[in-house]
Amino acid sequence: MIRLEKVTKIYPDGTEAVGGVSFEVQKGELCVLLGPSGCGKTTTMKMINRLISATSGKIYIDGTDNTSIDENELRRNIGYAIQDIGLFPHMTVAENIGTVPALKGWSKVKRRKRAKELLELLRMHPDVFIDKYPRELSGGQRQRVGVARALGGDPPIMLMDEPFGAIDPITRVELQNEFLKIQQEIRKTIIFVTHDIYEAIKMGHRIALMKEGHLVQYAPPADLLYRPKDEFVADFAGADRGLKGLQLIRTEDVMWKSPPAAKPDEDVKAARKRMEQEGIDWLVVIDDEGRFAGWAVSSDLEGGRKVKEIMNTSALTAPSANATLSEALSVMLTSGLNVLAIVDQDNRLEGVLTFQAIQDALRETAQEASVRMRRITPLREESP
Ligand SMILES: Nc1ncnc2c1ncn2[C@@H]1O[C@H](COP(=O)(O)OP(=O)(O)OP(=O)(O)O)[C@@H](O)[C@H]1O
Ligand SMILES: [Mg+2]
Repeated sequence: MIRLEKVTKIYPDGTEAVGGVSFEVQKGELCVLLGPSGCGKTTTMKMINRLISATSGKIYIDGTDNTSIDENELRRNIGYAIQDIGLFPHMTVAENIGTVPALKGWSKVKRRKRAKELLELLRMHPDVFIDKYPRELSGGQRQRVGVARALGGDPPIMLMDEPFGAIDPITRVELQNEFLKIQQEIRKTIIFVTHDIYEAIKMGHRIALMKEGHLVQYAPPADLLYRPKDEFVADFAGADRGLKGLQLIRTEDVMWKSPPAAKPDEDVKAARKRMEQEGIDWLVVIDDEGRFAGWAVSSDLEGGRKVKEIMNTSALTAPSANATLSEALSVMLTSGLNVLAIVDQDNRLEGVLTFQAIQDALRETAQEASVRMRRITPLREESP
């Protein structure tokens, strides 16, 4: 757990980069520091692992004042992915990733194995990259090695300063999804800096929105969108906050997990009957191995006797139940149907997402945010 109490940083030239910031990050949570350039995000982060000393205020790591923790100890337990990447130029990718593991006394074999695992995780072929030097990599590749290095020693706490900032949008979405997936298992306590509100909403349990060195609102993403504290937060959430809300919701939480289905060899008559029973105009067609084969749509049923003769096989599928509704909706719109099959890497059906379900989920999220705020507000007023 990380707690900041009235933390202030005034640089020697008199710049107050951070002024009286307090917030707390629970164990296993991902907190996003969000705000415009120069608002103090990096400074806040660097005070946590004492790369910068606070002018006043206290920072506690698991209840211990961080000024009383040995600096090396602090760096070993806190992984840090630096904004400007900062790889050691004279070290290979493997050596960079193995920096903290080496300090921890891991053998060379174990360090190399760890480097391979992490490169794979970050979608870089170990065989191609493991022995390269930073100057032989692109900016986005260097950045990913930076993230791998921060994860290297398996620290319980991670500070990540715009870790995906230099990476193209497609790889970036993949890495975000991958990162969220592993975070569900490894449950590290993370502070993650970005100035991209879409990324913030998608990644954060809570968002700390900063402005000119001050904390404006610290809340779950839905509250930031639907219950902005003031004009500045509302502007940051923007007029398209309904669309941004799609980033909050994961496909697997909304999809229909055992949807009405048909087999390719089934009679069209039976399919029609099932549609009538369910009150819908589609069935998802899956083969004997559970793989997605296409859609049977009511308007096409006249065209043949068997489902396989009439089914639409050209529909797009969404790659992963872990994608956000925003990513899934974007595929649905391109595909031209108001249903979308969600499949795993082997094209096995994981569920079906309907347009209606997306609308319902958005409405619920907005309502939940306002109910939660109504519950919290009176408590806050009572407290001294
Ligand atoms: N060493 C320094 N000496 C004086 N002022 C500094 C120093 N480092 C940063 N600042 C100032 O402190 C403020 C906060 O800087 P910081 O790097 O924390 O911002 P940031 O929110 O991370 O911005 P960005 O999104 O651009 O990375 C800025 O006004 C910056 O100019
Ligand atoms: Mg910064």
